[in-house]
Amino acid sequence: MLKRVAVLVSGGGTNLEALLNARESGRIPHGEIVLVVSGTTGAYAAERAKKHGVPALTLSRKELGQAGFEAALAACLKEYHVDLIVLAGFLSILSADFVSRWPERIVNIHPSLIPAFCGKGFYGLRVHEAALSRGVKLTGATVHLVNEIPDGGRILLQKAVEVLPSDTPETLQRRVMEQAEWVLLPRAVEALCEQLSQ
Ligand code: GAR
Repeated sequence: MLKRVAVLVSGGGTNLEALLNARESGRIPHGEIVLVVSGTTGAYAAERAKKHGVPALTLSRKELGQAGFEAALAACLKEYHVDLIVLAGFLSILSADFVSRWPERIVNIHPSLIPAFCGKGFYGLRVHEAALSRGVKLTGATVHLVNEIPDGGRILLQKAVEVLPSDTPETLQRRVMEQAEWVLLPRAVEALCEQLSQ
């Protein structure tokens, strides 16, 4: 039976798009994306989900508060019989209690080579700003299991990406997405779904 995947998002949703495209082109044969949950109102990611015919719900963490958000999220995950949670640019923090209920079942993508540029305050463009100010010549992306939010847990895949002298945070972000994130995340999701099917 196909493993049922929920994708949690907060913003643009390009990693979600990569997952949906991978699923549609046969690169995730052991899983299906059954639900997209946005933690913020108006996230473009929710539109992407709808365009692919996947149900998208918004649970505003701002409005519901942490406990309310997690209770609502847990109820949705149960309703959709979700097996695996993918954090794809999901920028809210999940509590240790929530995470402990999904051992080895939550996977996150982070736009650096962990342990560099991760932890509190490192998300989205900020990660690339930090990499550029430090002057690193290589950066990349990491897919890891989540035991502790934001960046704890066993690393599953990493890919290095070159930093160019002319880079801005935006150009670097784009290259890391194209060369690493959109490649690694579908691959990791398929590997986990296959593992869960055994
Ligand atoms: C991605 O670069 C993702 O790696 C990053 O946010 C971006 C979301 O883009 N995640 C983090 O920084 C998590 N700490 P997307 O909404 O277009 O996928």
